[in-house]
Formats: sequence, structure tokens, C-alpha cells
Amino acid sequence: MFRRSLPVIIAMIMGIFVMSACTNEQQTTNGKTIDKESQANKSNDQKEHKSDLVLPDTNLKINAKGNDVKLLKKVLIKLGYAIAENGTFDANTEWAIKDFQAQQVKLAATGVYDKSTRKWIEKALNGSFKIEPGKGIAKDKATVKESDTITVSNPTDTLVLVNKQHALPEDYVPEELIVPDVPFPFTKDIPKKYMRKEAAKALEKMFAAAGKADLELYAQSGYRSYNRQQTLFASYSEQHGEKEANKFSARPGESEHQTGLTMDVTSPDIEFQLNTEFGKTDEGKWVKENAHKFGFIIRYPKGKEDITEYQYEPWHLRYVGKEAAQVIYEQELTLEEYLGVLKV
Ligand code: DAL
Ligand code: ZN
Repeated sequence: MFRRSLPVIIAMIMGIFVMSACTNEQQTTNGKTIDKESQANKSNDQKEHKSDLVLPDTNLKINAKGNDVKLLKKVLIKLGYAIAENGTFDANTEWAIKDFQAQQVKLAATGVYDKSTRKWIEKALNGSFKIEPGKGIAKDKATVKESDTITVSNPTDTLVLVNKQHALPEDYVPEELIVPDVPFPFTKDIPKKYMRKEAAKALEKMFAAAGKADLELYAQSGYRSYNRQQTLFASYSEQHGEKEANKFSARPGESEHQTGLTMDVTSPDIEFQLNTEFGKTDEGKWVKENAHKFGFIIRYPKGKEDITEYQYEPWHLRYVGKEAAQVIYEQELTLEEYLGVLKV
């Protein structure tokens, strides 16, 4: 009996639902639709105002043309960039994007408008992320002539760029140099054991993690003074000629070792040498895949010699902080690319 009446009961319940659904629909149609319509009109109006400020979903870069570029430029102008409002992604637009990206550590200053840049532009538009046009990369600093060398004004910056075009002041000695508590293949207390405290602490964490993975990492060479680099470079130049020497050794002032943010690392498998074999050891492979988690980057990667102007050095680790290191690792960039400072 109950069995037979069950379908009837279900049908009745469903009927009630259908009715109430109809009733709701009618109510909606008769009453709230007007509200909804006006709401729709309102949001259309808002959209119209906002339509001036719609951020394109497509990736855009230099020489791109069209409405999406125009939309992007409108937004950049709204943010204070003095660029022409048209549909061409020209050099000025690229600079504006780079300058914007340079102001957010989680963005690489590539000059390419992409998904993550879009996200941060959106935040800048709604006021939750403050930027100042021109503060990231001064227009005249985005590119540098290969033959030029300038003295950097921010030697203490964790993200300081030191390369063949950007030198440290001769008298720059970092503050708070300490010896990281990690293994060295020698015992003497000499300057090359030292690093800036922040980098030293990060190195300790990295070595501890490598140890947990049963790896034997050793620190070989950290801080180097301007004078020490001068002696080294002179000696290498004598042996190999200056040009050849400068492919693996920096001129004084142009070595990252002077920042105190760098450590060359090695392993017993290669008898504590600093050579490309390190990249093939378990330690070298681990470093490549894990250093960024501790704020380090492989500063002279394979295949980027044209940009870094140094040979591949799988052992040379530079501390840049975790956020920058993450972006550099994920996008396989050099520090030059990340900072948006490239040679012309
Ligand atoms: N080996 C790197 C380039 C230096 O001399 O700093
Ligand atoms: Zn080095």
C-alpha cells in the first residue's frame, strides 16, 4: 500500500515544487524583474563607465596592435603614465609596463603584459597596490649600452644588479658580514667565508634542507673585497688574457662577491672544485631545483651567457630573497631580465 502510494506522494511533492517554482518565476517576472532590469541597466551603465577601463585578457607585448592595446593604454594612463592613447604597443607602453612590473617584487620586469601583470594592475586600479609611474625603472635606465659601466647607487639593496655595466663603488664593504654555520672544505677564518647576515641565515637553511636530503653541500667562496677581486682578475688575465678571463672572472667592482650576497657552493664528488661538473652532481641538481625556496638563484645559467656575459656557473648562488627567486626560477630568467635592465 505504502509502496503503491509512494509514486503518488512523490508526484504530489514535485507538483508543489513546480507550482512554487512557477509562482516564484511569476513573482520575479512581475515584481523583481523590474528591479533586476533596472539593476541590469545600472550595471550596464557602470560597465560603460568602466568600459573605458577594461583590462584585456590577452597577453600583449611590443608591436601588438588593436583594441586590446588601446584598452590597456587607457588603464595605464589612468594610473598616471604619460603615454599616447592609441592602439599601438610602442616603446613607451613597454616602458610603462616594465616600470609597473619593477615596482612589484612578484613580477618580472619583462615589459610583457600577461596574466600576473593584469592581476597587479587591477589591484593598482582599485587602490590596494600603490605605484608611482617612473619609480620602477627610469626611462633612460631600462637599457644600457654594452660598453657603458655605471656605478650603482643602491649597493646595499638585496636586488642590486652587479654586472659588466653595473659596478659597485670601490669602497663598498657590506655591513653585518658573518660566517654562515655551514661546512667549508677548509678551516681558516678568511673573508671568503663571510656573507651578509640575511644571506648567511638563508644559506644555513638551504644547507640544512640539503643535508636532510642526504646531500653533501659545501660552501667554498663568499665575500670578496674590491682589492681581492682586483688581484684575482689580474692573475687570471695574466694566465688567460683579459678577454678570456672576463668570461669567468669579474673585473674589480663588477663581482657579486663584493655584495656579500653570494656564495659559491660545491661538493666532495668533484673534490670541492668550482666547475661545470657541479651541475651534474646530485648536489648541483638539487641546488638547481631548490635554491629559490631559500631566496637564492643560479646567477649565471646555461643558455643565458649573452645576457649575463659570463659562462655557465652552476655553483654561483646569489641571494635575492624568496619572492624574487621564485619568479626568476619559475620563469627561467636572469637577474637582468627580472629587473628589466638589458643591454642594447
Ligand atoms: N665568477 C664571477 C663572475 C665573479 O668573478 O664574480
Ligand atoms: Zn662566484
